[in-house]
Amino acid sequence: MRADIVVLPGDGIGPEVTRAATRVLQAVADRYGHHFTLSTHLIGGAAIDATGDPLPPATLAACRAADAVLLGAVGGPRWSDPQAKVRPEQGLLALRKGLNLYANLRPVQPHPVALRASPIKPHLLAGVDLMVVRELTGGIYFGDKQRSADGASDLCGYTVVEIERVMRRACELARKRRRHVVSVDKANVLETSRLWREVATRVVAEEFPDIELEHQLVDSMAMHLLARPRDYDVIVTENMFGDILTDEASMLAGSLGLLPSASIGEGRNGVYEPIHGSAPDIAGRDIANPCGAILSVALLLRHSLQLEEEAVAVEQAVAQALDEGALTADLAGAGLSGQPAIGTDATARAVLDRLCAPLCAVQLRD
Ligand code: NAD
Ligand code: IPM
Ligand code: MN
Repeated sequence: MRADIVVLPGDGIGPEVTRAATRVLQAVADRYGHHFTLSTHLIGGAAIDATGDPLPPATLAACRAADAVLLGAVGGPRWSDPQAKVRPEQGLLALRKGLNLYANLRPVQPHPVALRASPIKPHLLAGVDLMVVRELTGGIYFGDKQRSADGASDLCGYTVVEIERVMRRACELARKRRRHVVSVDKANVLETSRLWREVATRVVAEEFPDIELEHQLVDSMAMHLLARPRDYDVIVTENMFGDILTDEASMLAGSLGLLPSASIGEGRNGVYEPIHGSAPDIAGRDIANPCGAILSVALLLRHSLQLEEEAVAVEQAVAQALDEGALTADLAGAGLSGQPAIGTDATARAVLDRLCAPLCAVQLRD
């Protein structure tokens, strides 16, 4: 298959983990006989420095024309002055909005290595398999923002259509899983949440009677997620709640650096990125965990290119590399594994070795 893939490395550890991810993408192309054309463009702080704009028109145009977009991360202290007129994060938000990528899928499936690295008790983690569906183009992120001398406000708004479409995506995913959806809101306080709950109930009753729907308030959900993570299947929620709950859920997996995401809309094109940020505290040292970015490649192969076998091969290669002790400092730290930590590039190498192993075996036999 041929595919045009735009790569947006961004800032901080973004370029480091993206380099690892593109090596894996290229290896998939080689192993399975695909032709992926990768083109790199500016976003975030790097784009502000070069052009003054966190999402230059050329980047947005390239992303629109592409089959899929692979992104690292944006932001950093250098562009974080509260007085700044433009911020790197605006580029990412404009990209999501510009491509109408309203559903952000964030799977959480702790690997056995998590049993050691997670702060959660191991017996609570076995069998955890969550899919968080975060609404991505509405809510408080995109409402009117006001600032005056003595105050500020951010408007949180949702339309019925915005809630319906993300709810449908969550239910469709649940149909391929355990048919259980928990819709998370703050309906005891927020009007947007009362609408969210109403629409969720109607969509499931009318269109997905085979799905079991539960409602949960976000504050207690934050607690249940750690206390009984195994009880959940698909969790669907609005933009900001989803942002916060998934960083929390990353601790079930053992590290923020492990979680991938897929941002999708109606078409096949999507943006694939790890859920972590630019991690300025560890940038430039070859110590960032590239697995979230590499697993985002798997989601890209699955959701935008419909290459399920290749997606699974990448996921298995990551799992094997972790099994065999290819651990970056976030996982190997504090003597948890008893193994020394390896770097970002070495971790990518370990994944590539596992990915290529069956091919190499064939070549040797030949
Ligand atoms: P962060 O996710 O960048 O980092 C939080 C902590 O997790 C840090 O201690 C970091 O070192 C660690 N961490 C993150 N990714 C890691 C990895 N792959 N391997 C090992 N450790 C990792 O969050 P933050 O520090 O709150 O934000 C830093 C900047 O990133 C901010 O400007 C923020 O806006 C931006 N950000 C961008 C994205 C994105 O581009 N999608 C996502 C989140 C945050
Ligand atoms: C994420 C990030 C972004 C968000 C920021 C950088 C705008 O935290 O992708 O999780 O809040 O959506
Ligand atoms: Mn986030």
